[in-house]
Amino acid sequence: MADSTPDTARLIIGDQEIELPIIRGREGDAAVDIRGLRGKTGYITYDPGLGNTGSCTSEITYLNGEEGILRYSGYPIEELAKQSSFLEVAWLLFKRELPSRDELQAFEKEVIYHSMVHEDLKRFFSSLPKAGHPMAICAATVGAISTFYEAVRYEDPDDEHWAAAIRLLAKMPTIAAYSYKHSVGQPFMYPRNELSYAANTLYMMFGTPCEAYDPDPVVVRALDLLLILHADHEQNCSTSTVRTVGSSHANMFASVSAGISALWGPLHGGANEKVIEMLIAIRDGDRSASEFMELAKDKNSPVRLMGFGHRVYKNYDPRARILKKACHDVLSRTGTSNPLLEIALELEDIALADPYFVERKLYPNVDFYSGLIYQALGIPVEMFTVFFALGRMPGWIAQWLEFHRDQDAKINRPRQVYLGHETRSYVALDER
Ligand code: ACO
Repeated sequence: MADSTPDTARLIIGDQEIELPIIRGREGDAAVDIRGLRGKTGYITYDPGLGNTGSCTSEITYLNGEEGILRYSGYPIEELAKQSSFLEVAWLLFKRELPSRDELQAFEKEVIYHSMVHEDLKRFFSSLPKAGHPMAICAATVGAISTFYEAVRYEDPDDEHWAAAIRLLAKMPTIAAYSYKHSVGQPFMYPRNELSYAANTLYMMFGTPCEAYDPDPVVVRALDLLLILHADHEQNCSTSTVRTVGSSHANMFASVSAGISALWGPLHGGANEKVIEMLIAIRDGDRSASEFMELAKDKNSPVRLMGFGHRVYKNYDPRARILKKACHDVLSRTGTSNPLLEIALELEDIALADPYFVERKLYPNVDFYSGLIYQALGIPVEMFTVFFALGRMPGWIAQWLEFHRDQDAKINRPRQVYLGHETRSYVALDER
């Protein structure tokens, strides 16, 4: 914060004046600490959607929505996207430092070692409808796998948390791939420990026992990039959900399962699926791009331009910028073309020149271009958000761990302003 930032804020309510401390963030952000507000004044704050509310302090991710900046533990997302790997980023989020070569190798080995899921879990998948959405299947399975570890006892809670972190990170690709295999009626493929995290994910998704499947290195790298870009995004809807569930001291599996459900919604991670549906509708002539844009601007229509707008970014989402370029690269390197990309570019051009979007600072978000890359990698549309969840896993875990080490952490329990009936007497059923 600039040196001129005061140490306290003064709040006047009626004839009462109180002083509230100001907390300074590392990068110029600042917050009025209102913990004493209700006790001193009887008032609470009102902030639907929590857009003005800091629910925690964090050392994991820095995001500046006005300037379009995203850093994991200080490292710009652009540098990590170019030079890092997903598991290295996971370590960074967990430990706040890049690993040494030995640390990274040991970590990769530990994760790979835990990638298999309990054999009994196959029956769990078989009991669910094949047409069930894979996000529902993943949320249910992640919650259910805690049952396999209830009997394992740890003296040190840190050891227990680390074991849960490794298991979740390691088993998520297997669970994701099984949810797909279940939907298409193919046999589940066991993980192969000699493959990298991303290559193993693709192998379990697309391999079959009938023939060899060697993931294309271009495709593997593209998936690793997508996972890096999704790895954390500070206090978004699903991460806040993970922290909230974790705040009751529910275990990490239960907390992350709730985060997966939160991510599923079309206003959050589910938007990547909706973007492709929107582009297909335009391609198939249901509506032209400009007709669609008019509908998105019409307040009487429920249509929104999916993949556009963000609670925090009032500038181009840096992840969308990287993905837009990656989209061109992947399509040219895999020798494929996708007419949907042309439609997406056209929509972006129209939006960025349209006063409605310009005035509201609505830019492409991470979901606008990610689906096009998933498509190029052969990932079916209903699996897009599952891959988002796969990428977000280190962030959810890191934030859960941070919450549990935070001396200020309390159970999350917001208040409300009650607008219902005043007190009244019960009326017996036959008198109503
Ligand atoms: N299309 C058309 N209008 C939009 C869009 C959009 N995609 N996004 C926002 N607006 C408009 C709103 O109607 C509102 O207009 P108004 O001021 O005239 O009422 C204004 O822009 C502000 O929008 P809010 O909904 O108040 O912004 P909020 O921060 O609450 O919502 C959100 C952010 C949910 C992401 C929103 O922009 C949206 O629905 N986008 C489409 C869905 C999407 O892409 N979600 C993925 C987000 S990224 C992620 O979660 C990983």
